[in-house]
Amino acid sequence: MDFDSIKKRKTIRKFKNLPIKREYIFCLIEAATEAPSAHNFQPWEFILIDSKNIKEKLSAKMAITWIKNLKKDNIPESEIIKRINLSKERINNAPFIIVPCFDTKKVEKYDDERDNAEFIMGIQSVSLASQNILLRATEMKLGVLWLCAPLFCPEDLREVLKIPLNILPQAMLIVGIPDEDPIKPNRRNLKDVIHYNGW
Ligand SMILES: Cc1cc2nc3c(=O)[nH]c(=O)nc-3n(C[C@H](O)[C@H](O)[C@H](O)COP(=O)(O)O)c2cc1C
Repeated sequence: MDFDSIKKRKTIRKFKNLPIKREYIFCLIEAATEAPSAHNFQPWEFILIDSKNIKEKLSAKMAITWIKNLKKDNIPESEIIKRINLSKERINNAPFIIVPCFDTKKVEKYDDERDNAEFIMGIQSVSLASQNILLRATEMKLGVLWLCAPLFCPEDLREVLKIPLNILPQAMLIVGIPDEDPIKPNRRNLKDVIHYNGW
């Protein structure tokens, strides 16, 4: 891997209707597990989904929660239908889905306020592993879409995917062969994000 894959990586939202072999996904998971982690606890687990039945169960279950939230936000019915259909279509037609999870038992326990820092370190570790997936996928000419939806409906994933209580799903990574070549969104200028020797 070099800086090139970091520059080339961009979110892909349209995929060719072609399956992705589990061997390719293993390469991505191998990259994930090379990530650093707090205390080297490696608090990551990955649920791999290539079953049409599971994808459909998941999208249907998640849609119910999302509809409830959109109604709470007074989003018009027509807009709700549009968003839900897109979300279901994305999940149902996903060539492959990786759900990176955080094992909340794989942290240092202090029974005081330091536990919050440990919790965050666990999430950071799983995020780094997930970024490795994105970078390795770029090298392999695969596209990835990171969906944050599981954070808003963890119990839906828990039920459909039979996830134990100590495991927190962090995202859904849709992996496939890109069927688009979007322009990568601009980045903020370096001078705007750097603070030398203090804010
Ligand atoms: C934590 C996180 C959550 C994201 N959630 C979503 C999402 O739910 N839906 C989506 O279309 N893109 C999602 N994205 C992708 C971002 O929109 C995308 O990374 C951003 O617009 C920058 O574009 P780039 O990835 O092409 O550089 C997410 C990215 C991250 C890191």
